[in-house]
Amino acid sequence: MRTPRNSPPEHDGFAFVLFGGTGDLAMRKILPALYAAHRDDMLAPDGRIVSVAQTALDHGGYLKWVEEHVKPHLPGTAIDPAVWEGFLERITYVALDASQPDSFSLLREALATGRSRRIFYLATGPALFVPICRALASAGLTVGSRVVLEKPLGYDLESSNAINDAVGQIFAEDQIYRIDHYLGKEAVQNLLALRFGNSLFEPLWRRDWVESIQITVAEELGVEGRGNFYDQTGALRDMVQNHLLQLLAIIAMEPPHSMDADAVRDEKLRVLRALKPVTSEQIRQSVVRGQYHAGAIKGVSVPAYQAEAGVGEHSTTETFVALKVEVENWRWSGVPFFLRTGKRLAGRLAEIVINFRPVPHSALGPMALRPGSNRLTIRLQPNESIRLSALAKQPGTGMTLQGVHLDLAFDQFFQQERMEAYERLLLDVIAGRLALFVRRDEQEAAWRWVAPILADWASQDNPPKPYAAGTWGPAAASALLARHSTCWQEEEN
Ligand code: BG6
Repeated sequence: MRTPRNSPPEHDGFAFVLFGGTGDLAMRKILPALYAAHRDDMLAPDGRIVSVAQTALDHGGYLKWVEEHVKPHLPGTAIDPAVWEGFLERITYVALDASQPDSFSLLREALATGRSRRIFYLATGPALFVPICRALASAGLTVGSRVVLEKPLGYDLESSNAINDAVGQIFAEDQIYRIDHYLGKEAVQNLLALRFGNSLFEPLWRRDWVESIQITVAEELGVEGRGNFYDQTGALRDMVQNHLLQLLAIIAMEPPHSMDADAVRDEKLRVLRALKPVTSEQIRQSVVRGQYHAGAIKGVSVPAYQAEAGVGEHSTTETFVALKVEVENWRWSGVPFFLRTGKRLAGRLAEIVINFRPVPHSALGPMALRPGSNRLTIRLQPNESIRLSALAKQPGTGMTLQGVHLDLAFDQFFQQERMEAYERLLLDVIAGRLALFVRRDEQEAAWRWVAPILADWASQDNPPKPYAAGTWGPAAASALLARHSTCWQEEEN
């Protein structure tokens, strides 16, 4: 049975205009999230969804598309037909060519009724962000509106700056919502709760007690029909520049004085600006890029990356990155943060591992001196959990130590259904809450940090290291940690 969640946010009626209304993201994430919000009574009754795409469909044709393409991606199992009908009633479709400003008169007409707040969600390629914003401005639709920019926002520092400059001439920063869906994950919210709602961890959360930190976002999936996009992008741009650096910022940030959007974002920004710049030599030592070959995921054979549709036969795009990052400030100086992400890895896992230093002297034998005996493992997905690893005495005579765990599995503790990241973020946009969206300066700092790596890779004839699909990536990723006398969590016996 569904248990009620928090009370609905207070917001007025809205017109949620979804550019890219027949795209993959609309189909898999955005419309299902809006449906979930509708189902849970979180949307104002007069909130409307205006889907915009180039495909020539009439209203009925679009609803049929939604029925066929969106329904299979809805969260939960049972779909109440009346609730679904109610959701469809919110939807209008406008077919227009987003690169043609004249065609925006059609959108203006569709929005003419009602005086609700307009939200423009740009679930299109970044090349259309500026033309769409300009056309919205010419059509007189931008005043008091909000714009949501999906990632990737640009391809590098220069292109992202160019987009931000141009969009910034039309929308003020507090009208711009840059999506990083990791920030909407319940588990990532919980990281903030864990760090800033408890006094327990704070004294330990620093270089004196932390030896190293690992952040892994591993996927079993490959490029899933997005070969064209992915081959131009690669794991560094697709995952590290945004999701992983945001996770790092949340782990490393100072306690904000409030949960106000700018208070939180100011602290994250300080971390991103404190990332130690990497030189060419360090890139060779501390950054591993890989690409998967054919292999098997859970016993099912999968092709090599280069054999995926849309991918170049001799592509050198990375599908895996592991790297060492350092944060140059008093709290973290000298503590390595090891980041790792990849496609077609041995498991689907997003996890943060805080390895505490062992005791300085052991009166209880060598076990107490082993690195990683005291550790906090924060599992973000799947099965969100927190595990505190410690040592205890084995029962019996003598004093033999053994590793033990204190476990908190969130889905057992909280019976409530978890809210999907997109649902939370869309509700935040509608309600005007900016805290979970990336501010321009944060994004710029993250691009600035990855820029030398991108430049180095572009200038080298140094192809990514191969790894078989279904493994944890190239051996060089293990060697990177071995050089720091540690290993990835799954490599421990
Ligand atoms: C997206 C990337 O931002 O995040 C995808 O573009 C990736 O390539 C996805 O698969 C992973 O998100 P999640 O929520 O499934 O971990």
